[in-house]
Amino acid sequence: MPYETDGNLQHAFGGESMANRRYTFFAEKADKEGYPGVARLFRAVAEAETVHARNHMLVMDAIGNTRENLLAASIGEHQEFTRMYPPFIEKAQEERNARAEKTFDYANSVEKVHHALYEAALQAVKEGKNPEEKTYFVCQVCGNTVTGAAPDKCPICGAGANAFKKVE
Ligand SMILES: [Fe+2]
Ligand SMILES: [Fe+2]
Repeated sequence: MPYETDGNLQHAFGGESMANRRYTFFAEKADKEGYPGVARLFRAVAEAETVHARNHMLVMDAIGNTRENLLAASIGEHQEFTRMYPPFIEKAQEERNARAEKTFDYANSVEKVHHALYEAALQAVKEGKNPEEKTYFVCQVCGNTVTGAAPDKCPICGAGANAFKKVE
């Protein structure tokens, strides 16, 4: 029989990860509303939730070596666009929730891109290569992730080049 604590660690990891994201978005909102002190509080607690999430993950031995992590990441992205999002999109259409359909659709499309990026890196690492440090651009509307330069128009959502955030 599995130990309940194993499930609890997984559950707590999910909760702490979510809290980190929520507080980060709350901080952005606080900044927009002119509450820089509250924004900083949200950011400080978000940082602490990351520590908790990392601690839980370490106890679960859920961080492998880079080759193992690329495989885990690739499997995760694949699972999202093959098993998770398609039925979510279908249900959102059925329930006429256009906003949900759109956010699922953006994510579903981009997970395919992520999967391809991870697969290429995994292949390279398997061949004993060390993938180069490319510059990435992430569309702030749909999450599309491209290398090299920002496209004039995002092929997934149609946003302009200025919607892309540089990651280096
Ligand atoms: Fe993804
Ligand atoms: Fe986009």
